[in-house]
Amino acid sequence: MAENPIYHSDKQTYGTYLKINELLGLQRPRTGHHDELLFIISHQVYELWFKQMMHELEEVCGHLDADRPLRAAQLFERIHKIQHLLIEQIPMLETMFSVEFARFRDSLRPASGFQSVQFRKIEFFCGNKNPKMLALVGEDEEAKREMATFLDKSTPYDHFIRHLAREDNGIFKIPREALARDTTQPHEPDERLVDSLEILYRAQHEGSQAGKKNAGERYYAQMRIAEHLLEFDEKFAIWRFHHVKMVERMIGGGMGTGGSSGAKYLASTLARPFWPDLWSVRNRLGGGYGGAPAASPAAAATPEKPAGGGGCPYAG
Ligand code: HEM
Repeated sequence: MAENPIYHSDKQTYGTYLKINELLGLQRPRTGHHDELLFIISHQVYELWFKQMMHELEEVCGHLDADRPLRAAQLFERIHKIQHLLIEQIPMLETMFSVEFARFRDSLRPASGFQSVQFRKIEFFCGNKNPKMLALVGEDEEAKREMATFLDKSTPYDHFIRHLAREDNGIFKIPREALARDTTQPHEPDERLVDSLEILYRAQHEGSQAGKKNAGERYYAQMRIAEHLLEFDEKFAIWRFHHVKMVERMIGGGMGTGGSSGAKYLASTLARPFWPDLWSVRNRLGGGYGGAPAASPAAAATPEKPAGGGGCPYAG
């Protein structure tokens, strides 16, 4: 009998399933410069990973809504691996010398990373709710409409907070206003939610009480989600930072092709995390491992004098 393995089937092949011909036809350098292909492929690969990241973030929220934190955690691990790739890809573009980039940069104008619809969708979804960004995508009305749907969506942090309240609001005491917040707005610092997060983190070190399950075990999955959210926020900021340094390396202090002040504008985006409460709860935890809660949020927020003798022993 003639061999007819599946990979010889003329119905479907690697190339037809993955649309390789179409994919390889999508790189159209506008100049004859050798490095332009690297520039195009790098951006296209980023866009593919942005697509996958959004796919995973939406699924994470679905799992949190269905109170399946461990499933959400698994997908967060995948998301962090994607973020790692996004960060690690930057040095690839940095193998291009700034003088080489200058030779084809004019052919990009006025296109810019500013106009990445998927990047904005991720930002909107996570809480950078800035409608002004819609104007940057130019004439593409369809893209604008799609982006706009992410402006009022609840963020992954909103989904987490609601999950935490359903899990046990007798313990976490999530305020009703936080559960019904205006999701068209960025997350503002909320000390009451920091209280809830502090309870979650401190519960990890509570022992079993008579007849009660160890709270640390009981809420470990929720604590892991809080850590995953923080890690997402941290890795996003690391990408931003690395991108700024690459921009400085390529074009110094010059303006961007999108018309911004370039590295100066990009550096200004570093300061604001998506989910500030997850960062400020550290002020209460870091200074006194396992100790009493800090006296007041304001005192705890003063990093120069950590309460409880914690922090860097060499700090002045
Ligand atoms: C030679 C490499 C690159 C240079 C010189 C560069 C430069 C810039 C500059 C100057 C801006 C500010 C906006 C403007 O006025 O144009 C910007 C924004 C941006 N770039 Fe790049 N970029 C590079 C590579 C990349 C890559 C590989 C990506 C991956 C997708 C990317 C994504 C973005 C995004 C998303 C923004 C908007 C950031 C924000 O508004 O917070 N860039 N880029």
